[in-house]
Amino acid sequence: MAPLLEVKNLHYYYGNIHSVKGIDLYVDEGEIVTLIGANGAGKTTTLQTISGLTSPRGVRGEILFKGKPIQRLRGNRVVGLGLMQVLEGRHIFAKLSVEENLLTGAYLRKDAAGIREDLGEVYALFPRLLERRAQLGGTLSGGEQQMLAIGRALINKPRMMLLDEPSLGLAPLIIKEIFIAIKKINSEGTTVLFVEQNSKIALATASRGYVLQTGEVVMHNTCENLLNNEDVKKAYLGM
Ligand SMILES: Nc1ncnc2c1ncn2[C@@H]1O[C@H](COP(=O)(O)OP(=O)(O)OP(=O)(O)O)[C@@H](O)[C@H]1O
Ligand SMILES: [Mg+2]
Repeated sequence: MAPLLEVKNLHYYYGNIHSVKGIDLYVDEGEIVTLIGANGAGKTTTLQTISGLTSPRGVRGEILFKGKPIQRLRGNRVVGLGLMQVLEGRHIFAKLSVEENLLTGAYLRKDAAGIREDLGEVYALFPRLLERRAQLGGTLSGGEQQMLAIGRALINKPRMMLLDEPSLGLAPLIIKEIFIAIKKINSEGTTVLFVEQNSKIALATASRGYVLQTGEVVMHNTCENLLNNEDVKKAYLGM
């Protein structure tokens, strides 16, 4: 069966700056896959390009989602196909409550009953958001904001979820909690591709991983094999 997401010879140019240099990757339905790499490796650019959040003028190559080319589609069209990115830096609304923030994720929908039900599922995954449903987004802790950002993406039951550095700026215990939730989301049927600088937790969570270096994939394997690879251990696991 064809992969759910397939990226073929993807390049991205910020003007003259060639940031992504011919990436190939695929994610099968039901998988949880990670993209790891150092600062500036092109992780965010790759993810944003898949999501239609970079300028189409800078894109070369092909991105197939459910077998259809999406490399020329804008972000809202990509979301409409069921491919949903949780944005880096949270991007939640500071002046809206937790619940209002979650509901902004469902702005395209009209089925009030279905939205209620999906809201309940987000609260079941993150009970902390239920406790704080009336609190303003801007007053949440970093970890709670990340939960909210994930919840907002999840409320539409995406076929596939993309996450950019879910661990960024969070304490170890919260990071653990976030990744447990990501695994749970995956086990309930959402395919996941996430980018991480925290290679240890990334390789412990995903089943397969790609190592990105200055815009190119330099390694691709099961996480088990990557964890046992001497180069990966030295460069990314500090061993
Ligand atoms: N708007 C932009 N204009 C020009 N160059 C950019 C822009 N955004 C990113 N770049 C460059 O593209 C390259 C890849 O950046 P990107 O943000 O994708 O890396 P990253 O792997 O996500 O890094 P980090 O781990 O720091 O988040 C970098 O060299 C960066 O300087
Ligand atoms: Mg980044």
